[in-house]
Amino acid sequence: MIKVLFVCLGNICRSPLAEALFNHKIKQTHLAGKVSSDSCGTGDYHIGSQPDKRTIHVATLHQVPIKHACRQLTSQDLSDFDYVMAMDKSNCRNILFLANQPTHHDKVFLMRAFDKLDNHEEVPDPYHGGAKEFQEVYDILNRSLDGFIVFLKERHFPE
Ligand code: 4NP
Repeated sequence: MIKVLFVCLGNICRSPLAEALFNHKIKQTHLAGKVSSDSCGTGDYHIGSQPDKRTIHVATLHQVPIKHACRQLTSQDLSDFDYVMAMDKSNCRNILFLANQPTHHDKVFLMRAFDKLDNHEEVPDPYHGGAKEFQEVYDILNRSLDGFIVFLKERHFPE
């Protein structure tokens, strides 16, 4: 099983949406049952909380099932997961701060590195935004996850 962890700051807006959309997409591919995912936050503000209402709304709008309880990233996660996907550069720095083995660094990627449209940017934090910003995050994740799934297929499961 390939294990993927999506990481943002609060684990209530971006990364639970990434996890839900990734799981939804994987179910429709030959990777189903071979890849799993989880999400977490670098911060501890919302531990135990459900995803933000606006994240649930945009997921529901696109028929993506979403269910997650917020948890905080631990150094153990860097051993347990094969891919650690950071939403932005600040998340990336905080993840690498917990990486205590050289091999851990190789697991950490910026989510938008897989965005075919613009792979130099971040998944912007929508927390202080509204429906428009959450839709933008959805669109970015939709593209980035498609690119990431192609990468996983080619690397681990060539047909
Ligand atoms: P997320 O968004 O990192 O995408 O979950 C945020 C959620 C909460 C906060 C910041 C960003 N906060 O400061 O509470």
